[in-house]
Amino acid sequence: MQFSDLPNVSREDISNVSETQLANAEPITHAPRVLLLYGSLRERSYSRFLAFEAERLLKAYGAETRVFNPSGLPLPDDADASHPKVTELRDLCAWSEAHVWCSPERHGAMTGVMKSQIDWIPLSTGAIRPTQGKTLALLQVSGGSQSFNAVNQMRVLGRWMRMVTIPNQSSVPKAYLEFDDEGRMKPSPLYDRVVDVVEELVKFTLMVRGRSDYLVDRYSERKATREKNSAASLAARDAVA
Ligand SMILES: Cc1cc2nc3c(=O)[nH]c(=O)nc-3n(C[C@H](O)[C@H](O)[C@H](O)COP(=O)(O)O)c2cc1C
Repeated sequence: MQFSDLPNVSREDISNVSETQLANAEPITHAPRVLLLYGSLRERSYSRFLAFEAERLLKAYGAETRVFNPSGLPLPDDADASHPKVTELRDLCAWSEAHVWCSPERHGAMTGVMKSQIDWIPLSTGAIRPTQGKTLALLQVSGGSQSFNAVNQMRVLGRWMRMVTIPNQSSVPKAYLEFDDEGRMKPSPLYDRVVDVVEELVKFTLMVRGRSDYLVDRYSERKATREKNSAASLAARDAVA
């Protein structure tokens, strides 16, 4: 089968998909830049502890990290986008190449604190798409038995933000048993799983960054842009004539 046998495909918009193209990554030498978001404002917050645990591991794997503190972030649309906490979040997002999202489960869902942060990040501002093509790892804590509601919802959200969400994830049940008085996670298979997730995130980030523009470039969008541009140039020509 060839594209010429597919009459509904616009051949001029087809991308050259090949290993050579994938090998032509933009060279990047700086440490992977990871933004960590957590979804709780409680003083003794296990999702924050877990995010900081992931941050320690990321640093050990050679990443550069930033953790956003959601305290003071207004509810979506309850303030102008020039609000300092909103600009802080958006600037961190622009800086980052990868994200870690760590939410508690509340009423079988990610928290509003977690979702509000994502809702403040625009899918696109002009040509810039702050999250598209960036890698994402998901973590959750719960008070009850092990559950995957929050990570499952954040996985949907990650897809919506056009992120490359890694397959592994961590869900820490009965989180109040897993952290010591200093907020450090105790050794356990659950901790080992967090190491797995962080390791996988760093690997995927090294693989994807430098190639993300190519990876997320879409046939339908190229086609739509070309059609819009040719319609605009025809209109300009008619205006001159
Ligand atoms: C309003 C509310 C709803 C909750 N719903 C759930 C739930 O659906 N499933 C669960 O396992 N734990 C639930 N919990 C327990 C939290 O997941 C647990 O306290 C967790 O540690 C909160 O995260 P944090 O420590 O980062 O604040 C709920 C707690 C609250 C206050």
